Amino acid sequence: MIYLDNAATSFPKPERVYKAVDKCLREYGANPGRSGHKLALKAGRAIYETRELICKLFNIDNPMQVIFTSNATDSLNLAIKGVLKEGDHVITSGMEHNSLIRPIKALEEIGVENTIVKCSKEGIIKIDELKKAIKKNTRLIALAHASNVTGNLIPIEEIGNIAKEKDILFMVDAAQTAGIYNIDVKKMNIDLLACPGHKGLMGPQGTGILYVREGIILKQMKEGGTGSKSESLLQPEIVPDRYESGTPNTPGIVGMGAGVEFILEKGIDNIRRHEEELTEYMLNELKSIKNVKIYGTKDAKKQASVISINIGDLDSSEISYILDQAFDIAVRSGLHCAPLAHKSLGTFEQGTVRFSIGYFNKKEDIDKAISAIKSICEEIE
Ligand SMILES: Cc1ncc(COP(=O)(O)O)c(C=O)c1O
Repeated sequence: MIYLDNAATSFPKPERVYKAVDKCLREYGANPGRSGHKLALKAGRAIYETRELICKLFNIDNPMQVIFTSNATDSLNLAIKGVLKEGDHVITSGMEHNSLIRPIKALEEIGVENTIVKCSKEGIIKIDELKKAIKKNTRLIALAHASNVTGNLIPIEEIGNIAKEKDILFMVDAAQTAGIYNIDVKKMNIDLLACPGHKGLMGPQGTGILYVREGIILKQMKEGGTGSKSESLLQPEIVPDRYESGTPNTPGIVGMGAGVEFILEKGIDNIRRHEEELTEYMLNELKSIKNVKIYGTKDAKKQASVISINIGDLDSSEISYILDQAFDIAVRSGLHCAPLAHKSLGTFEQGTVRFSIGYFNKKEDIDKAISAIKSICEEIE
């Protein structure tokens, strides 16, 4: 099987991730932060070490500002619903994932206004339009670092500066870039950073993080046991406990920690370079095939390792089915949970076939995918 669906979940994982999860479950699978015995303390330490690794990756000062969640959706809900109140205004774009758009739309019910800034036909956000959308009550700018449909990257540092200048909070959805692109929360003025653990951070599913800048207090999404302040009937205010009720996913968090350790050891620039080279190679090959339409910037320097295409008028799901069944190639088709992006690109009816490259892909995988696409094109001629 050739796996080119890393934008959904990265696969395979580094060997040490499997080992870390296994070791945790077998050797210290106790409940962290609750009991005081040796195994519980070991589990608690392992969780804390993962917080520290996350801090190293994103240049975060205080590990307590890293909140563990169960995926990027969970992080985005906590950030968006936790920060916005009646009368606030939020700005986002027409390229976003439903995990960001739906919480924003849901808040209309309690009187939170939104502006969805239109993008070009290539799916590029217009910074001027974004600036024009700022109003007196704008509290938050919420954007994905890279589109999960086209891979298009946005200039987060530039937008972070705009937000800071206007005293607006800046939230980045790094679902497609965390672990692959350098993200420095201080340099980029990021107030809230939402990441899945199971994509570029190379951890297991059921993991995610939300970084919350010190000084920002979110409304928690749930109340419950935290192992701290047990005498009180009210949710503790200290972080991360305020946001992390219930037994944590220790094996998952530890596995994510092993993924981050792998990234730090390999070097994020080397990971990105490898993915960028394969993306550039695939884009160039695709450009030479008649009947293939590529969406987005078509420039590996301006997009993450996500490539969306269509072949003639063929239904995108039919192509992904053929790729899977006849060529043993795993990709994703359809709208990729991002209907607005497809409205921007004009692919709302057809969807797109998405190839998403990961660190463990090789040039041979791309060659096989290109050869399969050429065969499908020949069939329809
Ligand atoms: C840009 C973007 N945001 C959010 C998400 C949601 O991630 P998760 O499945 O971890 O909740 C995804 C998932 O593909 C995504 O690509």
